[in-house]
Amino acid sequence: MDKTAFDLRYREYQTAVEEFLQGQFSDKPHWEDLYASMRYSLLAGGKRIRPVLALEFARLAGGKWQEVLPAACAVEMVHTYSLIHDDLPCMDDDDLRRGKPTNHKVYGETMAVLAGDALQPAAYTLILDSALPSEARLECARILAEASGPRGMVAGQVLDTLHAPKTEEELTEVHRLKTGCMIRAACTMGCAAGGAAAPLREAAAVYAENLGLAFQIRDDMLDVCGDEAAFGKPIGSDAQEGKVTFVDLLGLEGCDKAVRKCTDQAKAAVAPYDADGFLQALADTLAGRDR
Ligand code: IPE
Ligand code: IPE
Ligand code: MG
Ligand code: MG
Ligand code: MG
Repeated sequence: MDKTAFDLRYREYQTAVEEFLQGQFSDKPHWEDLYASMRYSLLAGGKRIRPVLALEFARLAGGKWQEVLPAACAVEMVHTYSLIHDDLPCMDDDDLRRGKPTNHKVYGETMAVLAGDALQPAAYTLILDSALPSEARLECARILAEASGPRGMVAGQVLDTLHAPKTEEELTEVHRLKTGCMIRAACTMGCAAGGAAAPLREAAAVYAENLGLAFQIRDDMLDVCGDEAAFGKPIGSDAQEGKVTFVDLLGLEGCDKAVRKCTDQAKAAVAPYDADGFLQALADTLAGRDR
């Protein structure tokens, strides 16, 4: 797929996601400070990769992607909660996110914890209230709960922040759990919501595993060699937290090769289904991303 066609579809999905999220928590109860904190992070200009993946897999499965928007935005809500908490002083202690001061820097730690807390059930409400068939809603909720919970993203965050992983094997497990699980959930929720048959679901899982690993290795690289203005996050945060990353083990060039290898494996997995090449172009774009 050429760059213009890729950009066009990515932007179409992204715009739909932005519009949908803009409509969330826009009423004004007297605890609207909570809503302000949630909206601050939700609408801070993330790349929206996870909802884009969900929407594209739903489309490939033969579904109407517009009907999958609530479920796709649910993944983004859980992802946003994970970022708010990830930036807290007790976690990575970061001051910049999506090019803006982190949630706790603006709203304080108490509100940042609570905004993250609130985004989680709000995500499930979106799925449960969506117009998808009840079986698809159930499956999406189960996938998201598994991916983000004690056998998924939170487990990865525990290993990352409390177990000091050092070897390539340990780091790969952390990446798979803290990042890969949510990317995989986005892809498989898209499949579930679009009514995909087993072969596409299996391809989505392999694509996501490899894309997730490439994505987090690239994130670790940018934490070393990125440009803060483009990346939207502080450079050197991992080193400052005393974390060992793939960059320490493989060097930047070795990381580049690892990202390339995972990206090629991701592309190969979906090639038979990705007729117009959007998912393959997405994998290539993410491999070379600077934000
Ligand atoms: C950041 O995710 C956290 C990681 C898993 C590295 P993204 O790079 O997708 O962040 P946003 O949503 O675009 O801000
Ligand atoms: C991803 O890891 C963390 C989440 C699961 C939220 P990082 O800690 O590397 O993410 P960034 O670099 O702060 O976005
Ligand atoms: Mg972290
Ligand atoms: Mg972090
Ligand atoms: Mg990082």
